[in-house]
Amino acid sequence: MSSPQVLSAALPADAPVAEPARRATEIAEFGEAVLSGLARHPRSIPSRFLYDAVGSALFEDITRLQEYYPTRTETALLEAHGAGIAALSGDVRVLVEFGSGSSRKTGLLIDALTNLDTYVPIDVSEAFLVEAAKRLMAQHDGLTVRPLVGDFTRPHTLDGTPHGDRLGFFSGSTIGNLTHEEAHGFLENAAQLLGPDSAFLVGVDLKKSLDILIPAYEDDGGVTASFSLNLLTRINRDLDGDFDTTRFAHVALYNADKGRIEIYLESLTDQDVQVLGQTFSFTKGERIHTENSHKYSVPEFQTLAEDAGWTPVKVWTDEAQLFSLHLMRRA
Ligand code: TRP
Repeated sequence: MSSPQVLSAALPADAPVAEPARRATEIAEFGEAVLSGLARHPRSIPSRFLYDAVGSALFEDITRLQEYYPTRTETALLEAHGAGIAALSGDVRVLVEFGSGSSRKTGLLIDALTNLDTYVPIDVSEAFLVEAAKRLMAQHDGLTVRPLVGDFTRPHTLDGTPHGDRLGFFSGSTIGNLTHEEAHGFLENAAQLLGPDSAFLVGVDLKKSLDILIPAYEDDGGVTASFSLNLLTRINRDLDGDFDTTRFAHVALYNADKGRIEIYLESLTDQDVQVLGQTFSFTKGERIHTENSHKYSVPEFQTLAEDAGWTPVKVWTDEAQLFSLHLMRRA
């Protein structure tokens, strides 16, 4: 993705039309990432490409699965502690959400922040941004929504958004999808972007028993497998690929050394696959790495955040110690 773009200053009732130029750039970047990712060993494709329109919709389905505890647990924490979060966040005027997705949890935070006037969601999915912006503006009288289309891990500026205390929000344990080094860089960038006196609320999945953890990434109904395999369908559609999705399987395993779930697509046979005119040979059992989901104890995450310039203010966790919400202030 090139530099992020403001969809519009204040979103009008009509959705802006997706630009063909942006779509072409997106496909070119996807092509480059897939060709280089399939050529290297071990093979890997960056996880942001899981989230095309179909992938984003399937991810929404994942968040509603019985096995997938993070979304409902984080939502319950926001419901129970919204007022406490608001009280400790300062006089927040601008809420900036990184990787906002469908913004389903955000309404809870917006309700709690009584002096909020601007909401800035940042996401790669324009469709989700437009829909979320419309819904949130309809539900919250006087709220201005200024969506930014782009990869939240890349630098952005908030030029043009009003000054005033800013609160960052990074939910869904998406920070766990970054390596420790990337998470450090992201937290530093976020400190820069949000500015002095800002606060940051980050949802972080906790380390826990594998009996709970593994099914969250490998549900019985196969929704997560469909989400995973959709990457191959996207390659077939956008990059003239010929992946046979019945000859690959979704694999989720826990790497205890690295404290993370690792997601792979595993070849079920020896096979050749074409992408953009190039041939890639897979042996049976060979994998394409597509995602990591790091899990943090409370002190592990606090150390990471402090190293990146954030001072812990308060942490909320659920009774079963499944999930944590960290509120921090700029050091
Ligand atoms: N942020 C989510 C998580 O790490 C992303 C996610 C959930 C995911 N399930 C997945 C990514 C399955 C790839 C495959 O929990």
